[in-house]
Formats: sequence, C-alpha cells, structure tokens
Amino acid sequence: MQKILVVGAGFMGSGIAQVSAQAGYQVRLMDIQTSIIDKALMDIRWSLERFEAKGILKESAKEILGRISGEKDLSSASDVDWIIEAAWEKEDLKRRIFQELDQLAQPNTPLTTNTSSIPINRLAENTRRPERVFGLHFFGPVPLMGLVEVIKGEKTSQEIFEKGIAFVQSLGKTPIRVERDIPGFVMNRIFSAAFREAVDLVDQGIVSPEEVDLGMRLGYGWKAGPFEIADNAGLDTCAQIGQAMRVLGAGYLAPRSNLIDRMVAQGRLGRKSGKGFYRYSLEGKRMPWENK
Ligand SMILES: NC(=O)c1ccc[n+]([C@@H]2O[C@H](COP(=O)([O-])OP(=O)(O)OC[C@H]3O[C@@H](n4cnc5c(N)ncnc54)[C@H](O)[C@@H]3O)[C@@H](O)[C@H]2O)c1
Repeated sequence: MQKILVVGAGFMGSGIAQVSAQAGYQVRLMDIQTSIIDKALMDIRWSLERFEAKGILKESAKEILGRISGEKDLSSASDVDWIIEAAWEKEDLKRRIFQELDQLAQPNTPLTTNTSSIPINRLAENTRRPERVFGLHFFGPVPLMGLVEVIKGEKTSQEIFEKGIAFVQSLGKTPIRVERDIPGFVMNRIFSAAFREAVDLVDQGIVSPEEVDLGMRLGYGWKAGPFEIADNAGLDTCAQIGQAMRVLGAGYLAPRSNLIDRMVAQGRLGRKSGKGFYRYSLEGKRMPWENK
C-alpha cells in the first residue's frame, strides 16, 4: 500500500488526507500543533460518517480513519511514496518546508504543493530534485470537489507529470493539465479576475454579496457565487493569495479595492471564523451579514 505525507492539517490538508485515505492510501498528516491535528481528525471523522450514512463509502468510516495518523514533525517523509504540502500560503515558509523535505525524503519521492499562487519553480529551485516537483492544486472542500490542477514546473519531467495525473485519477478526481507555471495557474487566474470586480462592486455599495452570488448562480450557472467560494476558502487565505500574486507583478490581478484586507483585520475570515461576507450559525448555516 502506498504511503502519503500531507504537510499542513488545515482546511485543505485535512481534506486531502481524507480523500487519500478513502482511495486506500496510508496517510501521515503533519502539522505544527497536536491540537490542530486533533481537530483535523475530528473533522475527517465527521465528514466520513456523513458519507457513510449516505451509503457513499466502500468501507466503514472507521477503517478509512484507521489509515490516517497524525505527525508532529516531518521525519516520516523518509518513509512515504508521495508528499503533498498544504501549509499556509507563505513563500518563505513553503521554501523552508521544501528544503527540509528534500533532505528527508527518498531521492525518487515526488514533492508536490497545493499552493494557489506561489510559483512551482521557486519551490523546486530549493531542492535537489526539481524534476520531481510539481503542483497539485485541489479545490475545497476537497472531499466534495472533483477537480485538481496538475501544474508542471519548468524542470518537472514528463514522466513525473504523468504520474501526477494518474495519482489524481487514483483519488477519484479529475485532473486539468497546466503545462506551464504561470501566476495563479489557470483556475485562480480566471476566478481572481471575476472576484476582483465583485469585491469592488460590493465595496462601492452598488450591489450586495448575496445578490452577486445569486446573479452568478442564476445568470452564469455557477454552482456557488464568488463570495460563497471566498468565505469557504477563508478570506485570510484569499488575502495571502492576492498578496503572492501582486508580488509576482501580475498587474492584471491588482485589486481595485482593499475590502478583503480590511475584513481580515476585523477578524472576518469567512466560514472558519463564523463571519465573512456572510455570517454562519454554529451548525454552519449561512445567513446574510446585515440581519444580525
Ligand atoms: N482554502 C482554499 O480553498 C484553498 C484552495 C486551494 C489551495 N489552497 C492552498 O492550500 C494551502 C493551505 O490552505 P488552507 O486553506 O488549508 O489553510 P489553513 O490555514 O486552513 O491551513 C494551513 C495549515 O498549515 C499549517 N502550518 C503552518 N506552518 C506549518 C509547518 N511549518 N508545517 C506544517 N504545517 C504548517 C497551519 O498550522 C495550518 O493548520 C495554501 O497554500 C492555500 O493557498 C487553499
């Protein structure tokens, strides 16, 4: 049975760990604090039990959970076949993690990142195996979303890229092949352009977030509107992605308004803090912001 190390047990890392275990992989889930890992394991249990109740799982939730273990450091990197990094969207941090993983992992182990915006090439250049480094950009919530962008770095070998495509398929997900490492890759480049306009319209008081979301669902057939997506992703993560893109000098992505930064400063981080563009009940029900 193949083993996977997932680095970072937040919103994305816990979801990646869950779908990997569901697909039969043995998973090591690492984060910096035991309490974060404990919460991730609780979230995974909750999600698996819901799937089990709906009859979606091939095994029991307990069997699947039994394949996930929590780790306090990166030492298990030496003993796994795949590594997926899903820590905070901060380039310095990810570069340090990649350097350490490169020291610890077996020479042929692929090192992949779930980054939304940091160039794959910058993470690869810190390693002795740039041909084995590439992007695996999942969408959240990972257990529910079917898409993964597979992003080729400048030095990623074709053989490893193809293995990445097959790995995504082994998780029951559908890959999109991104042949070049460009800012925001493909999906975030497109989403950021729409989100930038939506945030500006709301900040100017022209329209409410709920009406934008309704409009995008009814008018363009989106399954969720941009503010629903951003609240789910975390506005702090959106701000970090925006910042990383600005640093790359991708001028077309420069925000028109600083509303997201202002909201993050007020602790309005989206679903994770119970308030963002919407507010959320303890059970996770979404409600308009105004009717407090
Ligand atoms: N939120 C989304 O919808 C989304 C979608 C696609 C990709 N991503 C990307 O996934 C990554 C994680 O995002 P998230 O939303 O899960 O964030 P998150 O804040 O929920 O989780 C990040 C986790 O990284 C951990 N971490 C920090 N330093 C670490 C270290 N040195 N070693 C191990 N873990 C460490 C934190 O403790 C935290 O639990 C980011 O790169 C983000 O851009 C996010």
